Amino acid sequence: MFSAGILSLFFLVVVELSLSVSGLEISYGDVLHNILTGNITNYKDSFGVIEYYSEQPFSATANISMASIDNAKVLNGTIQLYEWATFGQKWGDAVFLNLFMKYNGQAYNYLEFDDLKNDLIKLADGNSTLLSIWAQSSSDEDLSNLYYSLLQSE
Ligand SMILES: *[C@@H]1O[C@H](CO)[C@@H](O)[C@H](O)[C@H]1NC(C)=O
Ligand SMILES: *[C@@H]1O[C@H](CO)[C@@H](O)[C@H](O)[C@H]1NC(C)=O
Ligand SMILES: *[C@@H]1O[C@H](CO)[C@@H](O)[C@H](O)[C@H]1NC(C)=O
Ligand SMILES: *[C@@H]1O[C@H](CO)[C@@H](O)[C@H](O)[C@H]1NC(C)=O
Repeated sequence: MFSAGILSLFFLVVVELSLSVSGLEISYGDVLHNILTGNITNYKDSFGVIEYYSEQPFSATANISMASIDNAKVLNGTIQLYEWATFGQKWGDAVFLNLFMKYNGQAYNYLEFDDLKNDLIKLADGNSTLLSIWAQSSSDEDLSNLYYSLLQSE
């Protein structure tokens, strides 16, 4: 399903996100879903300054400039996932991963996290085309449904 290069990319992400997985059966989708549901381990002692810019369509541009006192490894791993998302034109995934980085990569159940909903509403700025593009281009069904629910509440 995935080339060796992609598997090693995922493997690196898995290591950096400290997911306790054995073998290479983890996929991009698994990692994304684990992030969405807070099934990740945050580092306690991982300081780093993250500077990252990537211009993308559909309000998926990443413009990150922050110092993480405790979670830089997770953020580093997330940048790789974000790049994979934009490479695959998964704009809904990229928009979420972008916000996840802004939240310092903390382990929350984002499907039930009001800050995420509010930030997505702000970002969409009443543009229902944008919300439906995000919903249709999410590779995760739960994330897609989150966008659809925001679309319906417009
Ligand atoms: C959490 O992630 C691990 C590693 O990928 C996985 O084995 C486990 O099934 C996940 N738990 C849930 C509740 O999804
Ligand atoms: C809504 O978003 C779409 C996709 O980015 C864009 O083409 C369109 O111009 C936007 N509409 C408004 C009113 O900003
Ligand atoms: C990136 O964010 C910084 C800080 O918010 C802002 O000053 C800068 O203009 C942004 N860059 C772009 C290209 O939007
Ligand atoms: C994050 O990635 C950058 C660039 O690859 C690297 O210089 C830095 O050491 C990494 N930081 C952490 C905490 O992994």
